[in-house]
Amino acid sequence: MSRTDSTLLATTAPADAGALLAPGELVHAGPGEAPEWWRDAVIYQVYPRSFADGDGDGIGDLPGITSKLDHLAELGVDAVWLSPFYRSPQKDAGYDVADYRDVDPLFGTLADLDELLAKAHARGIRVVVDLVPNHTSDQHAWFQAALAAPEGSPERARYIFREGRGENGELPPNNWQSIFGGPAWTRVTAGAGARPVTGAADEVPGQWYLHLFDSSQPDLDWENPEVRSEFEDVLRFWLDKGVDGFRIDVAHGMVKAPGLPDWDGTVSMVEGTETTDSAEDAEDVVDPGAPEDGSTGAGNSGPMFDQDGVHEIYRDWHQVLAQYDGDRALVAEAWVEPLSRLARYVRPDEMHQAFNFSFLTTAWSAAPLRTVIAASLRANDEVGAPTTWVLSNHDVVRHASRLGLENPSLRPNGIFAHEPQPDEELGLRRARAASLLMLGLPGSSYLYQGEELGLPEHTALPDDVREDPAFFRTQGAEAGRDGCRVPLPWHADAPGYGFGPSGKTWLPQPESYARYAADAQRGVAGSTYETYRAALATRRAERLGSGTLAWVDAFADSPDVVAFRNRDVVVLANLGTEPVVLPHGVEVLAESGPVVTDRSADPQVRVPSDTTVWLRAL
Ligand code: BGC
Repeated sequence: MSRTDSTLLATTAPADAGALLAPGELVHAGPGEAPEWWRDAVIYQVYPRSFADGDGDGIGDLPGITSKLDHLAELGVDAVWLSPFYRSPQKDAGYDVADYRDVDPLFGTLADLDELLAKAHARGIRVVVDLVPNHTSDQHAWFQAALAAPEGSPERARYIFREGRGENGELPPNNWQSIFGGPAWTRVTAGAGARPVTGAADEVPGQWYLHLFDSSQPDLDWENPEVRSEFEDVLRFWLDKGVDGFRIDVAHGMVKAPGLPDWDGTVSMVEGTETTDSAEDAEDVVDPGAPEDGSTGAGNSGPMFDQDGVHEIYRDWHQVLAQYDGDRALVAEAWVEPLSRLARYVRPDEMHQAFNFSFLTTAWSAAPLRTVIAASLRANDEVGAPTTWVLSNHDVVRHASRLGLENPSLRPNGIFAHEPQPDEELGLRRARAASLLMLGLPGSSYLYQGEELGLPEHTALPDDVREDPAFFRTQGAEAGRDGCRVPLPWHADAPGYGFGPSGKTWLPQPESYARYAADAQRGVAGSTYETYRAALATRRAERLGSGTLAWVDAFADSPDVVAFRNRDVVVLANLGTEPVVLPHGVEVLAESGPVVTDRSADPQVRVPSDTTVWLRAL
């Protein structure tokens, strides 16, 4: 479309800057100043195996992370969250922990962790570690002891072993399905010295054990006081080392409904996930609108999730953390809806933050975004907790690709090469706009490594390199999450794009990563990296994280524009197809893409489609 055409079609903002910038309905007053660091922090998720490789084995490690702390300091994040680096057979990339108090040799040593902590702290970066309490690895000493001991023993009582149903116990104790596909129960042989049944003629089958995830991840029994005290001790171990907080894996899953009743619903990483076989199908899916409570289908229900009893655990943990200085924090990974239900995890005596997956799963559409933003802030204000915002992590399709899908409200957990492919350019434009919208919101934001480079999902991974158990347990029906876990590109011209000294990478990188490499973007005006960096600096200078949110009246019902005021800054995201023409007299503080400014003495700003700007009155 030519410039003249777009002018004719442009959406025009109020004619004067005063009207544009005037605050409308106040949704959130903000704390003014954040009394604790985590209330307004930007926290960067490091997925250790894919961040940076220090020793050249093709798998990222702790020394690799330490070597890149200057990148994170330059980017301007407040904290990092490290996905698991503990001893683990790596059946689920470390979310299957065999020893909660040690570093897996793959990632380094405890001394490497100490060094990482010291060097991060020296740069003013806090460190949050991942805790996986719902299940252990089957290689954990406790599970090995449970198999070695007979039915009814205290060793078995740390896990959820049950007799089967049917005449000879040949049916699982209930009908639950694993989140990765297939049954959530595995049967072992009878008596002490048990092992998973194979069907061999001479074996005597015995009890079943529960695993909400892979069969190598047996669920712990959180009714057992020994389990509770063990994890309090694990918390203390890492708090003593100086970590600043914990991200709690599957925080909504530890307590199960009494009697483990059958349940006919479905469970998935992102419940409500829709898949489509063709672009035509996608066109038929209409935007479902936005329920008032901000629900998007990101919640899991059923007797294995969000049971009231789980909150007791967090009250105890809150007390453990309170014995340490430095405002240590707990963040819940809880796929729970509605947002008012999620807010229960962050009541004043429980956790400090919870990931806002309703925001992550909201369509790229103005009305649902306004709804989820308001519902999130209101639900958290009720309990005095900050809202968090997140667009990507190691379990979902990177938002630069998700938002480039024909219908961005479809949320597969991975994309195969034979499936409809995301539009890379559109996806990146929208991802940058979505990120700038997110970083302008009051509260705490989570970034996933590589999003500051605009990295797309790898959508053409050959099946023989995949590692995600979700791919295997669905017999290849789901691509799984490997595509968002590809090693980062640091140097455009180096082997493995500079991931490590040998050029080896545990997953192959797409050729497009040369364009996205950090060194190809550093210092380049308008690059995704410099856009994030500038946004983080402005966010800090304007104290947006502890600020306010009032809708801009002029766009309060707009089908195309989300606009709000945070302190003195107006954040305006244009999701429509036509540019938004801004009145004279506004200063652009940050932009997710180039805003066309004419060169006259009194310039006028046009915000193109899928672009976000931060503005202030001149
Ligand atoms: C983690 C996943 C992991 C699962 C089982 C989660 O929600 O984020 O990566 O596979 O828990 O631990």
